[in-house]
Amino acid sequence: MEDYKVFSTVKSLQERLHSLGKETQVSFVATMGALHHGHLELVKKAFTLADTVVVSIFVNPTQFNKKEDLENYPRLLDEDLKLLKTVGDVIVFAPTVDEVYPKDYVDIDLNLGKLEHVMEGEFRPGHFKGVVNVVKRFFDIINPTYALFGLKDFQQLAVIEFMVEHFKLSVQVVGCETVREPSGLASSSRNFRLSEQEKVEAEIIYKTMEYARSLVAEKEPTEVQKMALEFFSKSPLEIEYLEIVDPKSLDSIPNWVPGARICIATMCGKVRLIDNSELIENSFIS
Ligand code: PAF
Repeated sequence: MEDYKVFSTVKSLQERLHSLGKETQVSFVATMGALHHGHLELVKKAFTLADTVVVSIFVNPTQFNKKEDLENYPRLLDEDLKLLKTVGDVIVFAPTVDEVYPKDYVDIDLNLGKLEHVMEGEFRPGHFKGVVNVVKRFFDIINPTYALFGLKDFQQLAVIEFMVEHFKLSVQVVGCETVREPSGLASSSRNFRLSEQEKVEAEIIYKTMEYARSLVAEKEPTEVQKMALEFFSKSPLEIEYLEIVDPKSLDSIPNWVPGARICIATMCGKVRLIDNSELIENSFIS
């Protein structure tokens, strides 16, 4: 396969897409680079939905609420391109910040209600506003038929679905199952920053979710939450939140509902990790 031509301007990308003809359906995978197995699974799934797959690689500054996180975010374009080549002939869009947010760009200030105040919203103020802006901007540029997002960022998926409904966009949002290492640790670009020891310590996240699942048949959600917190507290990791929530509203639930999820955020050394898992079966995965 030839080397990828990376599209870095909106104009060149749109020209390429237009050249494919009006009938062409596009699957879109948005990423911030530092690609891993989870991203590659999204791309593979994208190819099952449409022949043309666009992958964006863009570290979006507006979704970082800590300057050092933005600065430390891994930028590995060459490695990313090599990995993408292993899964197919994708169209790579890697724009500059000025290209995504030109001078006349008007910020979207969508009220996300509770979705932006609970869990990640509480710990990362402004984060989801940044996500909404960049994802909407990419949707407007690319006009995809499908857009695939990992369930690992469950709250992000809920926010994007809310945004798509709000603006009545025609794109079909597809949630894809979290890819895990054999230890249960969810694949994440942040794992690049974990030491071997921290990787072992981080296994407690998956173990806690499995423990919670084992309690579901006999306990109410609040009791499961309490016991899961106790279970987790034996590890050296520092918990930020452990919630059992309704899959759409993300409200904590007093009673079990279909699709109920356990969501965890924790610090592992200097690295912040999040994960979640379905406790009561639903049909979320597309
Ligand atoms: O999940 C991510 O990597 C980012 O939040 C996204 C969706 C690419 C937007 O910058």
